Amino acid sequence: MLSSGISIVFLARWQFAMTTIFHFFFVPFSIGLGFIVAIMELLYVIKKNDVYKQMTIFWGRIFLLSFAVGVVTGLIQEFQFGMNWSVYSRFMGDIFGAPLAIEALAAFFMESTFIGLWIFTWDRFPAWLHCLMIWLVSFGTMLSALWILAANSFMQNPVGYMIDPKTGRANMVSFFDVINNYQLKMEFPHVIFGAWVTAAIVIAGMSAWALLRNKTKFTDFWRKSIKVSLIVGLIASIGVIAAGDLQTRYVSNEQQMKFAAMEGVYKTTGKSAPWSAIAGLDTTNHKTKWSLDVPYALSMLTYHKTTGAVKGMNEVNKTLHAKYDKQFGKSVNYYVPTKTLFWSFRVMAISGGWFALVSIVGLWMNRKSSESILNQRWFLYVLGLTMWLPFAANTAGWLITEFGRNPWVVYGLLTIADAVSPNVSVASLLTSNILYFAVFCCLGLVMIWLAHRELRKGPDDLASLDQAVIDPYAKEAFSK
Ligand code: HEM
Repeated sequence: MLSSGISIVFLARWQFAMTTIFHFFFVPFSIGLGFIVAIMELLYVIKKNDVYKQMTIFWGRIFLLSFAVGVVTGLIQEFQFGMNWSVYSRFMGDIFGAPLAIEALAAFFMESTFIGLWIFTWDRFPAWLHCLMIWLVSFGTMLSALWILAANSFMQNPVGYMIDPKTGRANMVSFFDVINNYQLKMEFPHVIFGAWVTAAIVIAGMSAWALLRNKTKFTDFWRKSIKVSLIVGLIASIGVIAAGDLQTRYVSNEQQMKFAAMEGVYKTTGKSAPWSAIAGLDTTNHKTKWSLDVPYALSMLTYHKTTGAVKGMNEVNKTLHAKYDKQFGKSVNYYVPTKTLFWSFRVMAISGGWFALVSIVGLWMNRKSSESILNQRWFLYVLGLTMWLPFAANTAGWLITEFGRNPWVVYGLLTIADAVSPNVSVASLLTSNILYFAVFCCLGLVMIWLAHRELRKGPDDLASLDQAVIDPYAKEAFSK
């Protein structure tokens, strides 16, 4: 039986999580794809080789598809703030408003305007000017991410605000502090490198499937696509790991419960902390049942040296109660969903290493003097299957970030339970959950189907490239 208090929070959280996870399948893919398409067009401008033009047009089409779906799901997300999280929206409005408005006005308008110009001006502008359009689009997508992450970072680490004593809401006192948030400095590069690696691995994976179907058709096109994407993939996977390392050490200082859960540490460790590669966690009695440990490795990860203790969740829990009980009461549960954080961290971190490895092997096999990428079908299968992994890694990352700030919606200021709309009903939430789920499944399937169709069709022939970029308002364009 659903008891309405708990179930409303549960359903509202479920809905937001579902929408965000779905939305974030498309966001990093679009940001990364925009960037790689811009590189492809730049290569075309520099090298004047038509294959790069083919690549720009082909991958550019997939970019437009994912961009469109990303926008639709982002809008659904924004509606939910008002519908299900009205207390949160009122509390955060003054802070959230500015970055979101700038995102919509500056970054999103910039992206949309230049996307339009880019689509309709092939062969009308000089090549370098056309290329500049897609770079501006790519820059716009990253700028959008910056503003959204500024708002998200405030929720993790509130800065530049004061609480209005009359209304109890957060008022912004320094916009500079909000965008200079250390959390944002950690989050932004990690998300952007993650986006680049996502698109890189997907391009390489789709190209691998195409070569598996027919290794003699458009071979140069697919091989060049693999080369460009895996170069970006290698740089970005090193970037995401380096940024992730900085973030891990930051979290170990600022959000000790999140960090201890990521590492499955219930009891404060001794001077040299071992790292549990895998562990059985008893979340009811708050203890580790068994674990496979690597000596010193947790101290190494946290402090970059072999010594250094890590506080366990049980100790952090006591500290948090001592700090917040007066204001929020004794009943607040400060333990975060430990198993989710622990396993998500392993999925995400192992993926980072895997992407780097696959990129190195792929680039080696794909080098000019070698045919091995065409003959080693097993590797093409590995590449083809790996293309799904970045989506799991990104989801795992957000599960850590957002579950790890439990019980807060805004860290230390507002709990999740207090943030939900007071007048929303279980029935309406259930209905909208089912509806959204159906819409997302349909959108996801349509996206996969369209991308698959493009892949089967392959790129436009070099000979037909001129027709592929005819004036979109010309008569022939409508009869195509
Ligand atoms: C060794 C590799 C990695 C490490 C050490 C690492 C570390 C982290 C940490 C500590 C967080 C939580 C930050 C917080 O709560 O403030 C995080 C979040 C996240 N990670 Fe990773 N990560 C790694 C690889 C990856 C990869 C390969 C991807 C995606 C392709 C990825 C995507 C994300 C995303 C989307 C988030 C949520 C946004 C954020 O807080 O930055 N990570 N990562």
